[in-house]
Amino acid sequence: MTTVIKGGTLITADRMWEADILIEGEKIAAVGPDLKGDTVIDAGGAYVIPGGIDPHTHLEMPFMGTTAAETFESGTAAAASGGTTMIVDFVLPGPDGSLVNAVKDWHRKADGKICIDVGWHVAITGWNQTIWQEMAEVVKMGVNSFKHFMAYKGALMVEDDEMYASFTRCAELGALPLVHAENGDIIAELQKKFMEAGQIGPEGHAHSRPPEVEGEATNRAIMIADAAGVPLYVVHVSCEQAHEAIRRARQKGMRVFGEPLVQHLTLDESEYFDKDWDHAAQRVMSPPFRNKAHQDSLWAGLTAGSLQVVATDHCAFTTDQKRMGLKGFPMIPNGTGGLEDRLAVLWTTGVETGRLTPEEFVAVTSTNIARILNIYPRKGALVPGADADIVVWDPKLKKTIRAANQLSILDYNVFEGIEVTAQARHTLSRGKVVWSHGQNERPRAGHGVYVPRPAFPSVNRALSVWKDLNSPRFVHRDPQNIPSGV
Ligand code: URP
Ligand code: ZN
Ligand code: ZN
Ligand code: ZN
Repeated sequence: MTTVIKGGTLITADRMWEADILIEGEKIAAVGPDLKGDTVIDAGGAYVIPGGIDPHTHLEMPFMGTTAAETFESGTAAAASGGTTMIVDFVLPGPDGSLVNAVKDWHRKADGKICIDVGWHVAITGWNQTIWQEMAEVVKMGVNSFKHFMAYKGALMVEDDEMYASFTRCAELGALPLVHAENGDIIAELQKKFMEAGQIGPEGHAHSRPPEVEGEATNRAIMIADAAGVPLYVVHVSCEQAHEAIRRARQKGMRVFGEPLVQHLTLDESEYFDKDWDHAAQRVMSPPFRNKAHQDSLWAGLTAGSLQVVATDHCAFTTDQKRMGLKGFPMIPNGTGGLEDRLAVLWTTGVETGRLTPEEFVAVTSTNIARILNIYPRKGALVPGADADIVVWDPKLKKTIRAANQLSILDYNVFEGIEVTAQARHTLSRGKVVWSHGQNERPRAGHGVYVPRPAFPSVNRALSVWKDLNSPRFVHRDPQNIPSGV
């Protein structure tokens, strides 16, 4: 059985052209004019793009005394309806601290439930010999990225020595360290200060996490990565201070990547002020939404290439769960939704406004992260041999975002009322149509598979030349031969 997608305009990260796509089984077999297949998918008047990859989700994750409400079934169904065909979810070690058990646990939660493909990042939340050893096992299980929280003191936060040890291990294994960059010590102090001053509502969340705490941690993480000789990926970059650190590092030749979220690009800090408690709390996430100047910096980074990926950090708590923080903002579970609407909101606010070219849109929603995570061109590409993860993207399909109409399990939507100008007409995951607009057929649980990601080849590993022990700048001295008096 073959399928042909006919009559569309293809967009990839580097060009736009008219062609058909022939699909055989799960793979793209050919791209070109006048292709024939057993069944035809009409892409007339539409674009055809590689399926979106959201590299930052937290489905069913235990966090802040509760568990993220979005399930692997509802989250991946929602993602598929919005044109996303792969997510990379964050695995957190459980009470036994084992990374391997945590990965097995995430497979148990996802297997048979997912509608699209998934991969894992694994969080390093402490340091010991077992973790050092298990990191290698986890890499063999197809995980090539490890996440480090520099915030959430007393829970997930790692200290600098732990981060340095883990980054060094990443360098040995050919894995990529990720950081949530906020200074957790300063945040804890500011939280105390605002609570004592009586500012206990969600506004206090924004005040206690100013751009400075993010800028400081981003700079620190970059320097630690440099010292460990490993590239770095900074998740949810929300402000100029963090972006500036990444820009500067890249200009010096360091491999540092930055990921803004569609929420930070489009929603600002006014969401926390002069709003009712539920509205503001539903938008409490870390880092918090910023002002327009920070948003402009993030948009500029996407066009200039200093920021490479737009994700969602989908970590969805219901209004009832958010109310756990009624007595004080530090208890509001941190996280927002977005994975269903990422492509449509970014297209509307980015491509429609001229801030992003269609090619840049594809790069930041799919191709760049496929390259960064070492799954390109299986994912993120429209070439023969690639997985047929393809979206027929209709630039005339408008809708007003309403929580009432979403597939996400949440009872609200942070983009409520925003009118988007484009949507997925069809979403194909490994050659199968999993979503068609207007047909009201829920994507099928169990279609998705786990996508293992190989470790990086050694050529990609070095961040600093001076860390290379074979460099002429590294002087070997014989301890027996040091002149006396030195
Ligand atoms: O507020 C957020 N971002 N919640 C999810 C966990 C994290 O920090 O990424
Ligand atoms: Zn699995
Ligand atoms: Zn985070
Ligand atoms: Zn996150």
